[in-house]
Amino acid sequence: MRQETFTVISNRTLAPGTLEMVLEGDVSGISRPGQFVNLRLDGFFLRRPISVCDWTEGRLRLVYKVLGQGTAAMADYPAGKQLDLLVGLGNGFDLEKCPEHTLLVGGGVGTPPLLGLARRLAEQGKHPAAVLGFNTAGERILTEDFQSLGLRVTVCTADGSAGIPGLVTDGMAAVGDYNYVCACGPEAMLRAVWTLCGFGGQFSFEERMGCGFGACMGCSRKTVHGMKRICREGPVLEKEEIVW
Ligand code: FES
Repeated sequence: MRQETFTVISNRTLAPGTLEMVLEGDVSGISRPGQFVNLRLDGFFLRRPISVCDWTEGRLRLVYKVLGQGTAAMADYPAGKQLDLLVGLGNGFDLEKCPEHTLLVGGGVGTPPLLGLARRLAEQGKHPAAVLGFNTAGERILTEDFQSLGLRVTVCTADGSAGIPGLVTDGMAAVGDYNYVCACGPEAMLRAVWTLCGFGGQFSFEERMGCGFGACMGCSRKTVHGMKRICREGPVLEKEEIVW
């Protein structure tokens, strides 16, 4: 974990209530896709954990949903504003465990961390595919970014307004050639994906966090190996260790 100062390059709306913030700064503390950063926001005591969507040399891309006062304030941050970030938090996805045909399954704002994963799997010469689920066509985000990395993308919408009508599990049924899953999204979605897949995988949880760096135990979750802190030993858990 490193504490760094980043500068906002852009902060724009991708879909109603969902924004993309691009920042400039030292990203060398980030080692794996699926990690998160913890932002200090003016006037708020607690930092805000935001998952890393993607990063390249000197650039950090965050995609976040406006859920409360903190993220609402963040949505107004202009280009040029400086932010204090803790970077490289959490364990992230283990790329070496992902085989050639890994299916990335994302739900809503759980989709962004899978983009950084997709980029690095593609750089390894692997051929991941993606199933991305949203409530409506208007809530779709990042689908073209996945496609530009060469992934076959299957979109599902709960209201049937785009792609396959239904949930990501309906989309998974339409994609045949995979033998491993990396999933990120709301718990009900993760559980449905976990139940459906008869092989290994990694699942990224969105537990509510307090401190965000392992001190308060507020994000603890039962696993077959005992309690794990989602912010520290997670947010990514192996399929075999998950207890519902
Ligand atoms: Fe405090 Fe995880 S949020 S230990």
